[in-house]
Amino acid sequence: MLHLNLFIFACGHHRAAWRHPDSTVERLGDISYYEELAQLAERGKFDAVFFADGASVDTVADGPRWFLEPLTAMSAMSRATRHIGLISTVSSTFYTPFHTARLMASLDHISHGRMGWNVVTSMFDAEARNHGYDAMPEHAWRYARAEEFVDAVIALWDSWTDDALLHDRGGDYAHPDRVRAIDHHGEHFRVDGPLTVPRMPQGHPVLFQAGASDQGRDLAARRAEAIYAVAYDMAAAQAYYRDIKRRVREAGRHDPVPIMPGLVTYVGSTEAEAQAKQRELDVLLPADASLRQLSTFTAQDCSQWELDAPVPKLPPMHEFKGPQGRYGTILRIIETEQPTVRQLLGRLAAGGGHCTMVGTPEQIADRMETWFRNEAADGFNLMPPSLPGSIEDFVDHVVPVLQRRGLFRTEYDASTLRGHLGLSRPDLKSS
Ligand SMILES: Cc1cc2nc3c(=O)[nH]c(=O)nc-3n(C[C@H](O)[C@H](O)[C@H](O)COP(=O)(O)O)c2cc1C
Repeated sequence: MLHLNLFIFACGHHRAAWRHPDSTVERLGDISYYEELAQLAERGKFDAVFFADGASVDTVADGPRWFLEPLTAMSAMSRATRHIGLISTVSSTFYTPFHTARLMASLDHISHGRMGWNVVTSMFDAEARNHGYDAMPEHAWRYARAEEFVDAVIALWDSWTDDALLHDRGGDYAHPDRVRAIDHHGEHFRVDGPLTVPRMPQGHPVLFQAGASDQGRDLAARRAEAIYAVAYDMAAAQAYYRDIKRRVREAGRHDPVPIMPGLVTYVGSTEAEAQAKQRELDVLLPADASLRQLSTFTAQDCSQWELDAPVPKLPPMHEFKGPQGRYGTILRIIETEQPTVRQLLGRLAAGGGHCTMVGTPEQIADRMETWFRNEAADGFNLMPPSLPGSIEDFVDHVVPVLQRRGLFRTEYDASTLRGHLGLSRPDLKSS
């Protein structure tokens, strides 16, 4: 079975979605908006909803980015839903293990076993400067801290056994031998433990990771129970998928570790209708600002480029001196899709390097199935260009096709996120 995850982001993942006359931009501070999105994903029988997170504000004029703190929002969303998993980013660079273990454990109790933690090492200097650093600590240091961080969090989650609570009104509340200090003394942290929160329904909330670097992939292979990936096309997805599954085997693990690449979809009853939905958002992009950004990405002056003409020829990869990842994506989009300038800007404005599928429900289900059957994906992290419209289209029209093909559940058969993802519970009894 496929896994489906809704990646909730502001008014949608298209940078101009908030400019649409029907956008939800006024509701971004209203918790009922997020509750309704989680309910919509639950109607579609999705495995989970996911919040990314960042800790700085850059340009505010371009549109919304962060608003409610994700764990706070998820506390409320858990009360508005019954089955769907709730996954949030928490940064190992800025939080402490005790704080993270406690928040996640509390939310796992509140949600009755539906929490997941996407562990990230964060990226931007502006975030670092909100947390006592002058700039972002270097990559290797961040990953070393992340490894130790995860170890300490797991030790804290294990500091109460499953059978520690006795509730013996005439005797002990909890068994003293079943609640243990962890006495963690590492390079980055000292944590005595035990945690203040008794053992949670899932044993451990599910650990997600989305690192792309060698160190990120190693951390994922050793520790992650599920993975978010970035793949522009099936070939890139397969290369990542096979690499991670190999690293997981080499780490001596037998867990399934489902891999979910990001996916942007525009669904229409005809191909033309789907393309019209894409164009409806693309035309909302302010041309000047987008061309300025494209000039930065390509190290060219793009300011005079004709919006509805094909993209002019760009220098090959080996002649480009700037950041390679984004430029490589731009060259691949041009090569495979031959877009107009406006279409290229639209593609970059919705999901960037993630895969985009535009078409009828059957066409999109066909492509998802091909990825699923060919070691490219175990599921997808859906990044709707506009919210709630694009995810309503997906739930109402693509999910039924996937269900008819036996690729996706028609009812929940589990009550925890672990259960939805086919992951076992780490049991911890006293004997
Ligand atoms: C779907 C997805 C969600 C992510 N969410 C966050 C996030 O919320 N916060 C963050 O700082 N980084 C986030 N990242 C970035 C990654 O976790 C990681 O930092 C990035 O891929 C760079 O990885 P690397 O340092 O291993 O190359 C996300 C990446 C992906 C693919």
